[in-house]
Amino acid sequence: AAAEKDGYPSFMEKEIHDQPSAVEQTLLGRLDESGRLTLDEIKIDETVLRSIDKIVVIACGTASYAGQVARYAIEHWCRIPTEVELAHEFRYRDPIVNEKTLVVAVSQSGETMDTLMAVRHAQEQGAKVVAICNTNGSTIPREADAVLYTHAGPEIAVASTKAFLAQITAAYLLGLYLAQLRGNKFKDEIATMLTELEAMPAKIQRVLDEIEGDVKDLAQAMKDASSVLFLGRHVGFPVAMEGALKLKEIAYIHAEGFAAGELKHGPIALIDEGQPVFVIVPSPKGRDSLHAKVVSNIQEIRARGAVTIVIAEEGDEAVKDFANHIFYVPEAPTLLQPLLATVPLQIFAAELSTAKGYDVDQPRNLAKSVTVE
Ligand code: G6P
Repeated sequence: AAAEKDGYPSFMEKEIHDQPSAVEQTLLGRLDESGRLTLDEIKIDETVLRSIDKIVVIACGTASYAGQVARYAIEHWCRIPTEVELAHEFRYRDPIVNEKTLVVAVSQSGETMDTLMAVRHAQEQGAKVVAICNTNGSTIPREADAVLYTHAGPEIAVASTKAFLAQITAAYLLGLYLAQLRGNKFKDEIATMLTELEAMPAKIQRVLDEIEGDVKDLAQAMKDASSVLFLGRHVGFPVAMEGALKLKEIAYIHAEGFAAGELKHGPIALIDEGQPVFVIVPSPKGRDSLHAKVVSNIQEIRARGAVTIVIAEEGDEAVKDFANHIFYVPEAPTLLQPLLATVPLQIFAAELSTAKGYDVDQPRNLAKSVTVE
């Protein structure tokens, strides 16, 4: 078993380090020489794909956060209204779904019963289903109308890591493909995004090489924390929720992810002296005033005694003064930042779990794949 872990103490740590390759493999063979996307596996009639007027992403757990990240990108590139819903909620609320709806089912295992039931329900209403899945030949891809496999390789640890980054990558490819197909006005942006996506594996590797040690030191120092909060805006919001989920799953620490803008509507009441808060800061070069807004959120919580742990883009000096701890990740377009910003959160959770003496790969009460409703 030690050999299967490539010398790492746990599968989760190995899988965190597999991430540059997971993203690279998921991109592989999906671009032709001219840089156009060729997703031959999307075997749904092009006229059907052109007529889609709504996309619904269904998933559970970590896969649902990948869906939430993807939503920001798909709506922006395709201008198709996109919803993301937990599969078990979708299935039981009489959702409005028809032949013009494209359902995207995201599942690492392809066996999650809640997601499978939601797929069947959507198909009964006439919707086409594309599965984004990491397990060849599993049930959800078999029943879906098309499948876009993530090529992350087998994921053994219960807490999902490399599958998450691969799911975001695959969902982005799907979004860019639909934008390309629909002859969208964002043509230049599609080409730029594909180039930027291809640069991501090396950047993820840099995160691992450059900040892993410091993140682990912080996790060791924080092993007695009883509650950790995570804040993010835009794509940083689902990243915050994923960071919190990892801590709950494997370190059994109370953790919550919030939309940074929601702070003043409630969560700021939780902030008191010494409360650790991770803040995912978007690129200062991004659109609108996203960056400035998050910086002001950090100031607000710092002023109330929070210990701020900031994840920001390298070169971002504006956040320094308000960060108790800062981890820099390489420069990337805002939409791609989740592929980098998630990594320190995964390392933090795995190390904290280790520090507390827990089984990182087999957390209590959880199963890798939940095959009952
Ligand atoms: C379980 C696992 C999670 C996973 C979720 C969805 O709850 O513990 O790590 O995110 O199922 O699994 P799937 O295989 O559908 O992605």
